[in-house]
Amino acid sequence: MVKVTVCGAAGGIGQPLSLLLKQSPLVSHLSLYDIVNTPGVAADLSHINTKSKVTGHVGADQLEEAIKDSDVIVIPAGVPRKPGMTRDDLFKINAGIVRDLATAAAKFAPKAFMCIISNPVNSTVPIVAEVFKKHNVYDPRRIFGVTTLDIVRASTFIGELIGADPADVKCNVLGGHSGVTILPLLSQVPGTEKLTQEQIEKVTNRIQFGGDEVVKAKDGAGSATLSMAFAGARFALNVVEAAVKGTSTIECTYIDLAAATPEAIASVKEATGEQDIAYFSLPVELGPDGVKNTLPIGAISDYEKTLFTAAATELKGNIAKGAAF
Ligand code: NAI
Repeated sequence: MVKVTVCGAAGGIGQPLSLLLKQSPLVSHLSLYDIVNTPGVAADLSHINTKSKVTGHVGADQLEEAIKDSDVIVIPAGVPRKPGMTRDDLFKINAGIVRDLATAAAKFAPKAFMCIISNPVNSTVPIVAEVFKKHNVYDPRRIFGVTTLDIVRASTFIGELIGADPADVKCNVLGGHSGVTILPLLSQVPGTEKLTQEQIEKVTNRIQFGGDEVVKAKDGAGSATLSMAFAGARFALNVVEAAVKGTSTIECTYIDLAAATPEAIASVKEATGEQDIAYFSLPVELGPDGVKNTLPIGAISDYEKTLFTAAATELKGNIAKGAAF
């Protein structure tokens, strides 16, 4: 029996994400929380003939009931980007929203796996971690920044370029989740040997700034929602599967390195040249308690090495900002 709560469930990501979660036989209770419109979304989804029960909860008064005893909490609550904005510009509004949701989670579902989608992920994950520490319920193996959309985009864009089925292209994307902190490791993907350096740099940039294509095309109406719902559901359901069935899946996700192996931590230090980065996205093997194992970065090209160095400074700043908040 698995209770999954979506916070921000009435939003652009929240609605299609909830639809995808409703289709999973592994979910027994889908709890939808938002400050608006969840009764309608819940009523609508509840007519789908899968076994999970759907409940809608609206407003802070109903947050405890929404979150209580959740096994997984997915958070796509908050404002999205408009053209010209960076993810960091969202900090002012989203930091407070994420902090308040994390506080409720720490009180009413301290063992839940926390999947953080709200941007800027580089800073919102440290915020959740600090809230859990404050309530003495912190387990770094259970808190994840959802960077899956970067991996999904990498598969698509690289697949187009090398003429492979994107579903079969596996590219680790490490670091963080904004601009230059997004580090796709093309050199580790079979089939990319035939690409020119110019092609590699172009597709790397496209993966790093892929979100901007959507923000621009939506022209003020928000950022990626449908592809994010797909990515978020994939990640959350992999977490559920690992917990319930013991299926061991590897997903790149942004975590506190306190949950990583000494080998993985050493590889981050070596690749970035920094000794004190606290959070980083790594390939993570999921298990019954969340992070079961972390894989080291592996061999990287000289070009990728320059990307790691560029990412490190920005990432450290983002982490410090979140932790201080
Ligand atoms: P949206 O504006 O369509 O939906 C956000 C929802 O959050 C709204 O329904 C709103 O009522 C709700 N909300 C606001 N304050 C809340 C609170 N205190 N408690 C609960 N719910 C609250 O935005 P969208 O497009 O769904 O994006 C949501 C977030 O996801 C943004 O921060 C966006 O930047 C981020 N995002 C993250 C991605 C990733 O790869 N991690 C990719 C795309 C977006």
